Order: sequence, then structure tokens, then C-alpha cells
Amino acid sequence: MENGKRKLWKIMIADDNRTVNDVMSDTLAEYGFETVQAFDGHETLELFDRENPDLVFLDYLMPRGDGLDVLKKIRKKQPDALVVFITGEGSEDVAVQAMKSGASDYVTKPISLPDLVNIAGKLLREHEILQENIRLKERGDSYKDYLVTITETMGEAVVTIDRKGLVQFMNSTARKLWGDLEEMKGKPVDVLVPDPGVDILADIRQAFAHGLEYAEKEYAFRKADGSIFSGLLTASPLKSETYAGGIALVVRDLTDIEMMRRQIINAEKLASLGKVVEGVAHEIRNSLTSLGGFSRRLSKSVEQDSRQKIYVDYIIEDVKRLEAMIMDIEEYVNYTKIHRPNFSKTSIGEVIDEALVKTFGSGKFSLVTYEVSIPENLEEIEADHSYLVEAFWHLFVNACESMQGKGSMEVDVSLHPHYLIVDVIDSGRGIPSDEIKDIFNPFYTSKVRGAGLGLSKVYMIIEEHEGFITVSSSVGKGTRMRVFLGRKQAARDVPPKNTGSSGKG
Ligand SMILES: Nc1ncnc2c1ncn2[C@@H]1O[C@H](COP(=O)(O)OP(=O)(O)OP(=O)(O)O)[C@@H](O)[C@H]1O
Ligand SMILES: [Mg+2]
Repeated sequence: MENGKRKLWKIMIADDNRTVNDVMSDTLAEYGFETVQAFDGHETLELFDRENPDLVFLDYLMPRGDGLDVLKKIRKKQPDALVVFITGEGSEDVAVQAMKSGASDYVTKPISLPDLVNIAGKLLREHEILQENIRLKERGDSYKDYLVTITETMGEAVVTIDRKGLVQFMNSTARKLWGDLEEMKGKPVDVLVPDPGVDILADIRQAFAHGLEYAEKEYAFRKADGSIFSGLLTASPLKSETYAGGIALVVRDLTDIEMMRRQIINAEKLASLGKVVEGVAHEIRNSLTSLGGFSRRLSKSVEQDSRQKIYVDYIIEDVKRLEAMIMDIEEYVNYTKIHRPNFSKTSIGEVIDEALVKTFGSGKFSLVTYEVSIPENLEEIEADHSYLVEAFWHLFVNACESMQGKGSMEVDVSLHPHYLIVDVIDSGRGIPSDEIKDIFNPFYTSKVRGAGLGLSKVYMIIEEHEGFITVSSSVGKGTRMRVFLGRKQAARDVPPKNTGSSGKG
């Protein structure tokens, strides 16, 4: 019996025949088992409770409680107890009854001592393996539990997608953001972002194709309630045969960081910049007043058609330009100070028409044609009409300027479940990709005569309309400014129809 000594197994021998009992006990002890002896039914049950043996050899006929009865009581106390029944020769029916009552095995008297030791060893080994399996399974289950708990309590949203980019799993943070798993399961991952031009899966695949272990990028995500947040997406391939091709996505909400960033940009930068600019502008304006006044007087006093007259007129022209710029700057500083939108039901069609009149009315862009496409019966949105006119005017002017005053501009309105989308598309010079991050900053300009304030106003206005703006541009080909405006009322989705409204500014 090779395993007898590994752990000190405790075996109880319950037999009223003292000689038999002693022989069994001595033999088992010789093989390294610890033994406990009981001599009647009552004592068996008592010792079973007290000694908690690993195995019981139980005699069929004993005073104070017959064997079958004791067996049933033991099984009741401990359903997986190991009990080997001892029967007399020729009483197989009793053995069958004992097995039916839950005995693990039986031996017949006279007992062969080697058999006794073998049976004990075999049963205890099997039992040990069984227990170990149960322990392993419990450990496995609790490990799984542990993983699920971690995933579920994470502050980051976890989403897994299959090789086709379809949602398979979402943790509780993800479900809070995007809705129930039943609803989301099987949907393409791009439903998480509002911009139809964004292809998350393509971005991830591209990163993986470049040999990256994981892909990381910031996106504007849309929550189930329609609101937008900026989130950092980290995608890693699932390294498991079962989920081959699958990808785990972790999305970190950057709203707070973004808010802080914006607060710093807007509050600090604008405030300090605003103050400095305001001060400088004031000083320049003072100088310009005298420069302008004196040069105009000079212009009158010098001989017409003289060289001096040409020089003075240059000065006057430049002073005018500077005055215009100072006005822009002062206006912007005031604008950020007193900017208070007034919301009411607004027709985006009328806004666009007005912005077009404002852009093309002056005749400055008479060589630019434009085409507008608006769905019929478009709902009105809650908006500040005049601020929106201003925003689109800036976008239209930028588009026209980028085409150097000639070309064609496209304005497309479309509906998204949560947004009204206005695309302003030009075929102009485009924006280099490393400049895109700067264009919304106040005073950022690439133009000789630009103040660099248009887009920062646009940004501010769109943001107040629960919206956002995305840019896609290709140098030499053109730019698409995509404005998302929050739809604050029940939508009447109408398929877009080209009104063909086309004009020449
Ligand atoms: N449609 C566009 N195509 C190409 N570049 C653009 C476009 N829109 C904006 N930009 C770039 O972004 C910069 C900032 O634009 P923004 O409207 O804020 O300022 P600006 O047009 O230079 O001056 P301002 O609008 O104050 O007269 C521009 O100078 C230009 O470089
Ligand atoms: Mg501009």
C-alpha cells in the first residue's frame, strides 16, 4: 500500500467481534493508517462524530443498532462519507442493500487482510482525487468570479468585439454609457461614435498591421442619452483560441481631463490673453488714432501725383488694416465677455440662407458658387439663431478664402438620431494635418489679413449648442467641416433630399 503513509488517514473499524476488530485495526495500523475502534452501533455513531474518520469498515450485525441503520445515519450526517460494509459469506443480498444505501464497497467475512488494505487505499486515493478536483473547480470558479468582479467594478468601459467588429461583451461602465448588452450585442462597434466618417475597426487594424501590441486613439463617443464625451480608446487583441480575432476595447472617459484642459485653455488662456490683448489693442488704437489722423492730413497737404502722396497713402491703407484688426480683437474680447446665447425654435435652413447672404452679399466671393442640400420638412432645433448665423458665416468665409475666392462650396444638412449635421465642404487648399489641432485656437491664422478668431468663435458657439465640430482635410484637395448640433426635440426623420438650391454669390 504505497499511499498509506502519505497522509495519516483515519480509519474506523466498527465490529462487535473484538478479535476481528483488533486484527483489522492492527493490520491497518501496520500500513500506516490511524485507527479507531467501535464495538456497537451506538458507539460507532458517537465515535464517527467525535473522530471524523476518513473511512469506516462497518459490520452488518452489531448490538445497539444494526449495520444498515448505522450506515444510513452516517450517510445522513455526511453524504460523501466512505463506508465499506462487512457482510457474512453468502449474504450478497445484504451487500446489495448496503450498496443501495450508499456504501462505497463491501467485504465479506472471513476478511482477507491484503484485500482490506487494498480497498482502504484505493477508496481513499479516489476520494482524495475527487476532493482535489472539487477544490480546483472551486478555485477556478472563484478566479472567474474574481475576474468578473474586477471587470464589473472598473471605472473604465470595457467592450469586446469579434473579428467582424461586432459587440460581444460590455462591462457595467460600458452598459451605463451605451445601454444594455442585449440591445448592443452584435452591433458594429462604430455605433459608439457619432461621426459616420469614423471607422474604429479600420483604425485598430491599421495599428495592428503596423505591428503595434495595442492601438490607442482619442474619439468623440456618443452615450445612449445622446451626449458626447471625449474618450481614449485602447484596443488589444484577445489572445485566446476561443476568441481568436476578437479585440478588447477599454475606453477611458476624458471628460474631466478634457474639461480641465478646456478650462485651462479657455479660462486661463483667454483671460490672460484677453487681458494682454485688450491692453495692447488699447495702446495700438491710441497710436493708430494719431497715425491715422496725421497721415490723412499729410495726404491732403502733399502734392497729389507725387511720390510722397503714394507713400502716405500706403501708410493710410496699413493704418486702416490695423484699425480693422484692432476692432476684430476688441470685438472678440468683448464677445467672450458678454457672450450669452438665447435659445428658441430655429430653422437651420433660414440660418444657412442668412449666413450665405452675409457671405456673398458683399460681392467679395462673386466667383464662388455654392450648392445647398437640406432635407425637406426639417425640424426646428433649439438654438440661438444669430449666433448660428455667425458661426456658419465664419465657416463659409473660410471655405471661400481657402479656394482663393473662386470655386464651389457645398453645404449638406443631414440627420443623425441625436444630431443635426451640417457639412461645409470646399475644394480649397486644405489644412496640413499637424495644423488641425491649432485652428480653433484664438489668434491662430495662416492668412496675411486674418485675425484667427473665426473658428474659435465657431467652436464656442457650437459647443453651446450641445454640439461639436470635426475636421477632415486633405492638402490641395479641400476641407470638410462637419458641425453636429444637438437635436433637442423629438425628431421627424426625413430622408435627405437635394433641394438643388444653387446659387452664385
Ligand atoms: N476651410 C478651410 N480651408 C483651409 N484652411 C482653413 C479652413 N478653415 C480654417 N482654416 C485654417 O484655420 C485658420 C484659422 O481660421 P479662423 O477662421 O479661426 O481664422 P482666420 O480665417 O485666419 O481669420 P478670421 O476668421 O479671424 O478672419 C485659418 O487661418 C486657416 O489656416
Ligand atoms: Mg476665418
